[in-house]
Amino acid sequence: MKIEINNLSQVYSNGKKALSDINLEIGSGMFGLLGPNGAGKSSLMRILVTMLLPSAGSVKIDNFDLIKNRKEIRQMLGYLPQDFRFFTKLKTWEFLDYAAGLSGLNQKKVRSAKVDEWLEKVGLFDFRDRDANNLSGGMKRRLGIAQALIGDPKIIVVDEPTTGLDPEERIRFRNILSELSQKDVIIVLSTHIVGDISSGCNNLALLNNGFVEFTGSPEELIAKTKGHVWQVTASGYEYDMLKEKYAVISTIPTEDGWEVQLVGDNIEASNAIEIEPNLEHAYVYYMEHLTNHK
Ligand SMILES: Nc1ncnc2c1ncn2[C@@H]1O[C@H](COP(=O)(O)OP(=O)(O)O)[C@@H](O)[C@H]1O
Ligand SMILES: [Mg+2]
Repeated sequence: MKIEINNLSQVYSNGKKALSDINLEIGSGMFGLLGPNGAGKSSLMRILVTMLLPSAGSVKIDNFDLIKNRKEIRQMLGYLPQDFRFFTKLKTWEFLDYAAGLSGLNQKKVRSAKVDEWLEKVGLFDFRDRDANNLSGGMKRRLGIAQALIGDPKIIVVDEPTTGLDPEERIRFRNILSELSQKDVIIVLSTHIVGDISSGCNNLALLNNGFVEFTGSPEELIAKTKGHVWQVTASGYEYDMLKEKYAVISTIPTEDGWEVQLVGDNIEASNAIEIEPNLEHAYVYYMEHLTNHK
């Protein structure tokens, strides 16, 4: 499976250019869309799920054209919007049953088994008879995840899916996704949290201000940061100076000051030691050194 995005742009009616000439190829497996708030992630996702018509450009999904073949593409999709909300009188299980019906699960018995399976997977089985409206925020989010995935979609688009989940739920959700990514499906996951990307995403795009700044594997992004990450032991005074000049990633207090990790070129500190970059370092380094599209 493959999504091909060509010269895609999105300008809103107020003149805001949310996406500028995006070109991306997304293959099977998990693809991470990483970028700060306002980068254009949700706009791109709304286009992918045929809810927003792009101002320019084209998208092909497995030889279907996003604009000409909406119907076919919609049948392949599972979508969790960033602001997943609902108002319903349905109980939790009924809500999921309804979503399953919409996704084409017509046989009652099969559907009911699926509903139970997904209630279990997202930890809502014990709350199946509760009015969906009365679930907590995190539970509603989990119901959102279940409604997106219950129809076995070939293309899964989840927009900041871990928002509002506690750490345990995040891990559970991550596991659900990595299991799914073993099948022949495409998962597009957006986030502004680097930690959401690190496990399981074989490719990612860095989006900033409507531009794709990087696309490739997490390892490739990390490799670009090699030689630019440093650890310095600094006194309070030195620390203030470092903060002025470089992007500080972490600060740990020690006996004689601070142990500081920072990214930058040519660090001017006598005791700076180069350390191995991780994805968090790479993201900060990349964002700090964008010259074009700030
Ligand atoms: N319906 C809209 N009308 C006008 N501007 C919008 C609309 N939706 C989003 N934007 C703007 O487009 C930019 C990208 O937004 P969005 O796609 O939501 O980014 P992200 O999901 O990365 O935070 C932001 O500046 C946002 O304010
Ligand atoms: Mg968004």
